[in-house]
Amino acid sequence: MPDDEHRGLEASGITVRFGGVTAVDGAGLEAPPGTVTALIGPNGAGKTTFFDVVTGLRRPAGGTVHFEGADLTGRAPHERARRGIARTFQRPEVFGALTVRENVQVAAEIHAATRDVPGRTRADRWRRRRAARRQTGEAADALLERLGIAQYAQCRAGTVPAGVARLVELARALATGPRLLLLDEPSAGLPVPASRSLECLLRDLAADGLAVLLVEHDMDQVMGVCDVLYVLDSGRVIASGPPVEVRSNPRVREAYLGAARSPRSPERGTGPAASAGGRHRLLGGLGGR
Ligand SMILES: Nc1ncnc2c1ncn2[C@@H]1O[C@H](COP(=O)(O)OP(=O)(O)OP(=O)(O)O)[C@@H](O)[C@H]1O
Ligand SMILES: [Mg+2]
Repeated sequence: MPDDEHRGLEASGITVRFGGVTAVDGAGLEAPPGTVTALIGPNGAGKTTFFDVVTGLRRPAGGTVHFEGADLTGRAPHERARRGIARTFQRPEVFGALTVRENVQVAAEIHAATRDVPGRTRADRWRRRRAARRQTGEAADALLERLGIAQYAQCRAGTVPAGVARLVELARALATGPRLLLLDEPSAGLPVPASRSLECLLRDLAADGLAVLLVEHDMDQVMGVCDVLYVLDSGRVIASGPPVEVRSNPRVREAYLGAARSPRSPERGTGPAASAGGRHRLLGGLGGR
């Protein structure tokens, strides 16, 4: 049994229901530090809902979430964030009126404030605040540089292209110094070269010791970047393991091929997200290599 800090995320038996729809149906996965773990599945499979449970935004009807050995089931999102869990959203959520740099610096400042040691005198406090501001500004600049979006630093975040906003959100997540990073379709809207750079960045983050959990639709990108792949279908994990094995798993192929042949059952995935388009996009990826 590894030390607690080497256990990363362990989620098991997660179940979420929306009225009569079971969005996540007893799903579980592990995302250990130092690895990129990917979660794929067609539109409406329950991927984002699963992330919502891990980050505490949604309370599951069943199941548990452990991180570094601690039981976080039922804990508030801010407590999970304090323990080192950060995420990006499927639709980027940035402060549109702030500049790109300010967006990242604010996150770095909030993170720094959680570790702040108050000064004894007023002058001392002022000096510390100035030094902290300089450090968080430098940290923000370094992150913007690392993500290749330094040229947007002074642009209002509400005005940058969607792909850039995604990277701003990622920079903000990284500014909190996470140990578990959840990314919900981070490459959507990115041109191919930026998407490849992101792939390298995720490998680097894993090499730094982060546990990275990635939801993607682009199967080829997932194949290139992840160590372990989980496939979610109708809220259930139907396969997991090294990507090459999962890709050739007959159950996975049948799930996608079967889904492409017959429409989704009426009681599940009736929302706008549950189009056959997602399945075809995944199918293309599955057949790609
Ligand atoms: N707030 C909600 N209220 C009711 N049903 C919901 C809600 N959020 C999600 N669902 C339903 O739960 C199921 C899972 O949705 P979810 O968004 O988690 O899927 P997903 O795998 O992230 O899909 P996508 O690939 O389109 O992002 C879908 O059937 C969806 O319509
Ligand atoms: Mg989603």
